[in-house]
Amino acid sequence: MYIPERVLTNHDLEQFVETSDEWIVSRTGIRERRLATSADTTVSMAASASRQALRVAGVDPTDVELLILATDTPDKLMPSSASVLQHELGITRAGAFDLDAACAGFVYALSVGTQFVRAGVYRTVLVVGADALTRYIDFTDRGTCILFGDGAGAVVLQASDAHEGVLSTVLGSDGRGAPHLYVDGIRPAEVPNGAVDSVPLPHMKMNGAEVFKFAVKVMGEAAVEAIDRAGLTLADIDLFIPHQANLRIIDASARRLELPREKVFVNLDRYGNTSAASIPMCIAEAAECGRLQPGMNVVLVGFGAGLSWAANVVRWGATGIGQGE
Ligand code: ACO
Repeated sequence: MYIPERVLTNHDLEQFVETSDEWIVSRTGIRERRLATSADTTVSMAASASRQALRVAGVDPTDVELLILATDTPDKLMPSSASVLQHELGITRAGAFDLDAACAGFVYALSVGTQFVRAGVYRTVLVVGADALTRYIDFTDRGTCILFGDGAGAVVLQASDAHEGVLSTVLGSDGRGAPHLYVDGIRPAEVPNGAVDSVPLPHMKMNGAEVFKFAVKVMGEAAVEAIDRAGLTLADIDLFIPHQANLRIIDASARRLELPREKVFVNLDRYGNTSAASIPMCIAEAAECGRLQPGMNVVLVGFGAGLSWAANVVRWGATGIGQGE
């Protein structure tokens, strides 16, 4: 994983908007977040996380056959950030594309990468989640500016005969909820000698209450469906890694699933909502601190703009980090 150096605390935010550390902690669980500096781009953050993932997995960049970058903040509209990342990493013979499913993006990308491995098309796939959503935040809007941070995380998928890795997948989308969370990005066509409208800076717009209701419902439902598809029961689940948006959403989902707090991984107090990066950043920290052990059954659930959602049950393999290094 990679996080930018610049820290923005709740007390810092008190200087920009009418809010308080007490309000932010009690309503969201977030204490601080990291902001991309001028030196950080989506590609540079993704590259840093990817290099670590490749090193820990013991995989040479030239052995990667497919690179999927989950992001909704690509550095450019074209080419894809995945293509730039591929070159940056010295990956020479891989397909590469961006995948946008907002905060559900990493679980979507992991699901897509898994299908290529399972089908026998590719043996080694690099899956990355990287976002710099704070570029699109209006720091005078206290409803959104307190929530988001920047970062990146990456995993390497490899073919294996063992019954481990991604055991099940659930993907969902309900476009009726698109107006609840969006960043405008379309500008009018420019006609030679014609008038061109001025384009306002795109800022995130969010109906927090609607997203909250949706998230609590879908996190539980998607997790149960993924567990069922894996042929497991809730009692078989050792660790729940939810998208890190709001501690109250995570707690409500965990209560619905009757999961005790020690089975739920949380790091949003330090990073806020890092969009597609949140789940791989949790995986990296959970492995690093020994919360992920070989043979554990882990549920990953992401949700976000779309509205979209995705869940996987993953059996942590004996070669995962925490074991390799
Ligand atoms: N500081 C102080 N007061 C605030 C703040 C703030 N930062 N923000 C809102 N308030 C005020 C409101 O103005 C309101 O005041 P009023 O009653 O006088 O009108 C009051 O606090 C309550 O506001 P609510 O919006 O009802 O607060 P709520 O408890 O719902 O929390 C929050 C708001 C934190 C945004 C919550 O709705 C939430 O987390 N929603 C989910 C958002 C989310 O997960 N988004 C990311 C999805 S992932 C992706 O794809 C990017």
